[in-house]
Amino acid sequence: MSELVTLTINGNKYTAEKGQFILQVARDHGIKIPTLCHLDAVEPYGACRLCIVEVTKGTRTRIVTSCLYPVEEGLVVQTDSPRVRQNRKILLDLLYARCSENSVIKELAAEYGLEKPSYPEQYWTKEDCIVCGLCCRVCEQVVGVSAISLVNRGITREPAAPFLGVASNCIGCGSCFYACPTNAIKMEDKNGYLYIHNWNIKYKLQKCGKCGIEWAPVKQLEYIQKKWKLPKEFFDICPNCRG
Ligand code: FES
Repeated sequence: MSELVTLTINGNKYTAEKGQFILQVARDHGIKIPTLCHLDAVEPYGACRLCIVEVTKGTRTRIVTSCLYPVEEGLVVQTDSPRVRQNRKILLDLLYARCSENSVIKELAAEYGLEKPSYPEQYWTKEDCIVCGLCCRVCEQVVGVSAISLVNRGITREPAAPFLGVASNCIGCGSCFYACPTNAIKMEDKNGYLYIHNWNIKYKLQKCGKCGIEWAPVKQLEYIQKKWKLPKEFFDICPNCRG
């Protein structure tokens, strides 16, 4: 049986399993902590720092990322103290200057009283990607494909296909698109093809033999069919028609 610990979050006592991360425990009890780079299905990574909280252990109080900080006996946590809010505001100010037209960042920044980035306008850029790497982690840890990765360093760091070319291992499942917290992945269905522009891929869509709807990339279905050893004709009709 796992060891239990008692900790205090925002003045209330909770019991949790030793080793659980603060973010998970807080969310289990309905306490809201903002995040951008976190998804339960993948390992925490600590990229966006938005989930910071204040922890007190003995006489020491400090700011930590709650998605990566394990709970322990007697820990005292503040998720929304003035110091936490001030630090989050600084982080959001930086993200806002980078993603000055991104609606997700704009909304979060507004919650912290930022109507516009505090930096001179000449430093603002119109990126959507915050380089949290969630797209790459989902592709690797959930899909098991690793078609993309974070490349370069410093201000040129970005998620990309190998050698900035075509992500030929991509199966077109769109997990990166759905996981991205800032809608930075551009995916569309057009004229019978699926495009994921960020990874330069264009895959033919499978047409349902019954209703005629184009319902999934052929490459994704081939991947699943091989992996699960399904009969070739299994995907001839769409899940709706299969019932
Ligand atoms: S959610 Fe913890 S660092 Fe992004």
